[in-house]
Amino acid sequence: MSVPIKISSSVAASTSPSAGSPLHDLYTRRRAAESQGIRPSRVLQPLENEGLRLLILENISQEAVATFRSQGYHVDHYTKAFSEDELVEKISSYHGIGIRSKTKITQRVLKAASKLLVIGCFCIGTNQVDLEAAAQAGIPVFNSPFSNSRSVAELVISELISLSRQLFDRAYELKTGVWNKQSKNCWEIRGKTLGIVGYGHIGSQLSVLAEAFGMRVIFYDVLNIMPIGSARQVETLEALLNESDFVTLHVPELPETINMISTEQLAQMKKGAYLINNARGKVVDIPALIEAIKSKHIAGTAIDVFPHEPGANGDAFDDQLNPWASELRALPNVILTPHIGGSTEEAQRMIGQEVSQYVARYLGYGSTIGAVNFPEVDLRAITAGQDTEIRVCHIHRNQPGVLKQVNDALSPYNVEKQYSDSKGEIAYVMADIADVSPADMTRLKERISNTDSNILTRFLT
Ligand SMILES: NC(=O)c1ccc[n+]([C@@H]2O[C@H](COP(=O)([O-])OP(=O)(O)OC[C@H]3O[C@@H](n4cnc5c(N)ncnc54)[C@H](O)[C@@H]3O)[C@@H](O)[C@H]2O)c1
Repeated sequence: MSVPIKISSSVAASTSPSAGSPLHDLYTRRRAAESQGIRPSRVLQPLENEGLRLLILENISQEAVATFRSQGYHVDHYTKAFSEDELVEKISSYHGIGIRSKTKITQRVLKAASKLLVIGCFCIGTNQVDLEAAAQAGIPVFNSPFSNSRSVAELVISELISLSRQLFDRAYELKTGVWNKQSKNCWEIRGKTLGIVGYGHIGSQLSVLAEAFGMRVIFYDVLNIMPIGSARQVETLEALLNESDFVTLHVPELPETINMISTEQLAQMKKGAYLINNARGKVVDIPALIEAIKSKHIAGTAIDVFPHEPGANGDAFDDQLNPWASELRALPNVILTPHIGGSTEEAQRMIGQEVSQYVARYLGYGSTIGAVNFPEVDLRAITAGQDTEIRVCHIHRNQPGVLKQVNDALSPYNVEKQYSDSKGEIAYVMADIADVSPADMTRLKERISNTDSNILTRFLT
C-alpha cells in the first residue's frame, strides 16, 4: 500500500519564506494543489528540501519502486546485489538503500555512507546488516518479518495431505516408470488431530485453514493465547504430542527450542503420526527423527528448514553439509523442500509494500515503528490547519541530560507533542513545535545538532 502524497490545505503567513528558498517552493506546490481542490492533511519534507535519493538493489518489487517514485524520491533500481567495494564506491550519494539478503551492509559500507538515513531489508531477516553499527550511525533498519505467514500456512496444508496420502513417493515412482496404486495407510485429514507448536502468526493462520478441512486443532505455546475457531490450547508439549496425528512446528529458534523435538518427544508422539517442520532447522534433532522413521513409529515427515542450508541454488545438499543428509533422503514418505515455506509472489509483494511504507514513513515523518535496531517512536500526524508546526527528529546517544538540553532549546516555542524512547545506547526524541519562523528553524537545528550527544538531527516541515 503506498503512502499517498498529502498537501497542506492552508499556509500560515507567519512562516511564509522568501521567494526562491526551498520552503517557498514547498509552499508554492501546496498552494497549487489547494487551487486544484486537493485538501488532504500535511506531508512533511526535510528542512533542507534536498532531493532524496534511494538505491534499490536485488530486484526488489516494482511496486516498492513505484511507491518511492510516487513520493517524489529519485530511485536508482538494480536487479543485482552490490559487492562491498561497489557499495563503498557508490553509497555516499544515497539517503536510503533497499536490499534483500545478498547485499551486505558492513561497518565499512556504513562509514562510507555519509548521507544514509535508512536501510530497508526487503526480506524476513536482517543478518546481512551490521545492525549495531547502523544504530550507532543513527540509521534505522526495517524489515518485514511476517509478510509470508499465509504462504507458510498453505504449504503446511499441502504437506498434511501429501504425507497422509504418501503423495511424493507415489508421484516419484510413476515419474520413474513404476505404477504402484495403494490405499493401505493412506488417510483423509478430515477428523484427524493437528497439533500446532507455536501459535503465532503462522500457527494461528494454519489453525483456521486446518479447521476448514475438518481437522481438530490443538496447540501448545509458552503464552496463553485466545484460540481461534474451535482450536484448544493444551498445557504441555507432551499433552500435544500424545494427542496429535500430525505435529507441526512454528516456534522461533531460541536456546529453549533447539532440539525441542528429540528422541524423548518423538517417543511421546502417537505411533503412525507425522512431523512437519517449517520453522527453523535446529528445532528438530534430525538423527533422532531418522531413527523414529526407520522404526516406523513416525509415518512420515516434511522438512523445509535445516541446521545447515546451501548458500545458493544449485549447491549440493549432501553429507558434507549435514552428516545425515543421504540417510534422510533415502527414507520413505519424507518430503524435503529447500526453505520455500515463505517463497511466493504474494509474499514478495507484501514485503515490498510493507518495507517501502516503513522507509517512506521514516523519511517523510520520522516514524521508526517497525525498526529492528532502533527505539520505536512515532507521533500522530501534523494535519491541515497546523501549518506552522515543524517536526524535530533528534537521534542521540542515550546519556543523562540530553532531554534537558533539547527542551531548553525548544522552550521558547509551544511543544505540541513530544515522545522519546531508547534502545541500548541509542535514543530518539520526536517533537512537534509550533510558530517557528524559517530563520529560527535554522538556528534551532544548529543548536540541537551541536549538543554533545547528537547523532543526527532532522527537521521536517
Ligand atoms: N519456512 C519458511 O520459509 C519460514 C517462513 C517464515 C517463518 N518461518 C519460521 O517460522 C517460525 C514461526 O514464525 P511466526 O511468524 O509464526 O513467529 P511468531 O513469533 O509469530 O510465533 C511464534 C510463536 O511461538 C511461541 N513460542 C516461543 N517459544 C516457544 C516454546 N518454547 N514453546 C512453544 N511456543 C513457543 C511464541 O509465543 C509465539 O506465539 C519462525 O521460526 C520463523 O523463522 C519459516
